[in-house]
Amino acid sequence: MRNVLFLAASLSIVWTSCSSPEAQSDDAVGDLMSKMSLDEKVGEMTQLTIWPLLEADDDGLLMPQRGDSTKLYDALVNHHVGSILNVEAHDYTVDQWTELHKLIASISSLKPNKIPVLYGIDAIHGINYTKGATLYPQQIGQAAAWDTVMAKTIGEQTAIETRISGIPWAFSPVLDVARDPRWPRFWETYGESTVLASWMGASYTRGMQGTDAKIDDNHIAVSLKHFLGYSASVTGKDRTQAWIAERQLRRYYLPTFAAAIDAGAKTVMINSGDINGIPVHASKEILTDILRGELGFEGIAVTDWADIHYLFNRHRVAKDYKDAVAMAINAGIDMSMVPDDLDFPRLLKECVEEGLVPMSRINESVRRILQVKMDLGLFEGNVRPDLALFNCDEHKATALKAAQNSLVLLKNKNVLPLKKAPLVTGPTANSLIPLNGAWSHSWQGDNPGLANTGKVPTIAEAMEARGATYYTSGEDINVWEPTGRLRTASLKGETVVVAFGEWSYCEGVGDIEDMFLPAAQYEMIKDIKERGATVVGVMTAGRPRNIRDVEQYFDALLYAPLPGDFGGEAIAGALFGEFNPSGKLPFTFPRQPSAHITFDHRVADAMSVAAGPSGDKGTASFGPQFEFGHGLSYTSWTVTSALVNAEVNEELVVNITISNTGSMSGKHTVPVYYEDLVASIVPSVKNLCAFAQVDLVPGEQSVIELRIPRERFALVDASNKWVVEEGDMKLMVGEEVHDFVIN
Ligand code: BGC
Repeated sequence: MRNVLFLAASLSIVWTSCSSPEAQSDDAVGDLMSKMSLDEKVGEMTQLTIWPLLEADDDGLLMPQRGDSTKLYDALVNHHVGSILNVEAHDYTVDQWTELHKLIASISSLKPNKIPVLYGIDAIHGINYTKGATLYPQQIGQAAAWDTVMAKTIGEQTAIETRISGIPWAFSPVLDVARDPRWPRFWETYGESTVLASWMGASYTRGMQGTDAKIDDNHIAVSLKHFLGYSASVTGKDRTQAWIAERQLRRYYLPTFAAAIDAGAKTVMINSGDINGIPVHASKEILTDILRGELGFEGIAVTDWADIHYLFNRHRVAKDYKDAVAMAINAGIDMSMVPDDLDFPRLLKECVEEGLVPMSRINESVRRILQVKMDLGLFEGNVRPDLALFNCDEHKATALKAAQNSLVLLKNKNVLPLKKAPLVTGPTANSLIPLNGAWSHSWQGDNPGLANTGKVPTIAEAMEARGATYYTSGEDINVWEPTGRLRTASLKGETVVVAFGEWSYCEGVGDIEDMFLPAAQYEMIKDIKERGATVVGVMTAGRPRNIRDVEQYFDALLYAPLPGDFGGEAIAGALFGEFNPSGKLPFTFPRQPSAHITFDHRVADAMSVAAGPSGDKGTASFGPQFEFGHGLSYTSWTVTSALVNAEVNEELVVNITISNTGSMSGKHTVPVYYEDLVASIVPSVKNLCAFAQVDLVPGEQSVIELRIPRERFALVDASNKWVVEEGDMKLMVGEEVHDFVIN
């Protein structure tokens, strides 16, 4: 079908020269390639950011910028550039996007083979670069809901709004696994568990891209990022070295990508860092042997921002840019996110002519790029989804529900739901910025002028709408300057909701030197408590920050993991008990600033020095502030379970009975873990292997049958292969532990 459509569309194409090894090919991509010159091919492999292609005004800050036809003509027609990305520092309206894409399309039609441009964008939590788009929770918030169906719906709706903006390709989802809470891109991930992140990522991919090889006009291509091992930096900082043993790489960092590639992902973006001293952009082992050979990936591997440049001017494994170009392309890169000059195609052409890069490598990449363009229907022209779907009620309802489901009730000394209207304060109470985080209207998401103010309420506004009184706490997150009623000596009898945490940040801008928040925030919490108030904390942050010394002052604490535009409404609703918060932490919340031990650690990781030679565990030193999977509810739950079979040949079947024994309806998630008692590789104390989720009214009970395939109990053995080892295991469901055997 694809071939027929393409041939029909190609009748209007004026073919040029016909002299390439692809001339024998009888498929649509091959036919097109046989008519392309080397210049066109290296141009296809080039991606520029839109910024140098825009009209500049006097001070360079024209908002919104318009496409500059001369610059676009030079890039697209003279240099055959195949792809463009992103925006210039701010979002566009749908109309501005439409105008830009029309211009790009009309100029592309002047290219010798009229090959359309593949436009890509960071649509990270909705199409966050289009004004008025629906902004959903960031991935860490989606993960806190443990809801793969919701993730799929968010993917679907984001795809529709992205297509309405004329864009067919998103640089999303992030499938790095966040095992170090210092990492500034922690919040862009689905958290600490490789297993949970794999389920979420595969589901989101199916939602955003659909499940057919040919992507229809309501779906867009995903880009899984950042392949591979990006989140495991030694320093905890962005784009710094990682040293990852092969077993660790395969066990923790590869499966998320494998799952989404199995789900059909069309493109991947490469990790800007280096692993074991080798920049990933220069690693043939990762980009070709693993990505293509093992995972069977057939789509486009695009670099991250300027990463071929960085091979010589940052990583220093190449002597100059040309050397770097040859290195990256030979390693397996298909497209370079250059992002703003035209040296790349020129140098790549020279590399081919001088025999530094084989023509077969170019053809392979161009074939992949053209195939994705065809799969996206770019040659036929796409039909824009109905404009009425943009930020429609259904999408807003999903975003609100997702925001509600992302909230994690960390602590509650019977203070919540609120019984009377409280005072509200704190540096993150009255802005949408800390609710959305970065990739919101701009890269850093920190421009208050661009936020959707007026359309959706902040925490303070949503609380005021429910009778609360808001007092500012000072200029920013670094000061505590009480105002109004908060200045009076005694706050006895008052309940004060204190919103605190992080401002928005992205990539290196979010690097931190330690896990502590600004001191003024701790002072604020202590001060309010010491003056007699009941303190309800609302922590807005994309990663756990240290609250060890103030945790005691909270009578209740709600964690809001970047819930998006509807976070204010969701938080106020949760505090007033309009719904029951049900999120569960998708990461371990450390108590000590340097104790970053994940939930799936080994026995010895949590063993005190006092542990005796008998091998007993000693006094556990694993004492996080809150455990992975922690999250309270306004109702009470009982969980019982029974194994259907205790000997596993193909699958383990367990029945889990969950009852709502309290007085409020709600959702409840029960993670299911296993422990391998004896294994050839030191086993973890627990591994996530499944979860059960219910939504029940008071007094209601539900029995969930989980069928857990034998492969879920696999480990990466001494020869770095996934194997299921026979032997005794334990299954942990809530408080209950069951023995079972793998045969
Ligand atoms: C980030 C990517 C992003 C790209 C394009 C890079 O700096 O690492 O995640 O997709 O920019 O904006």
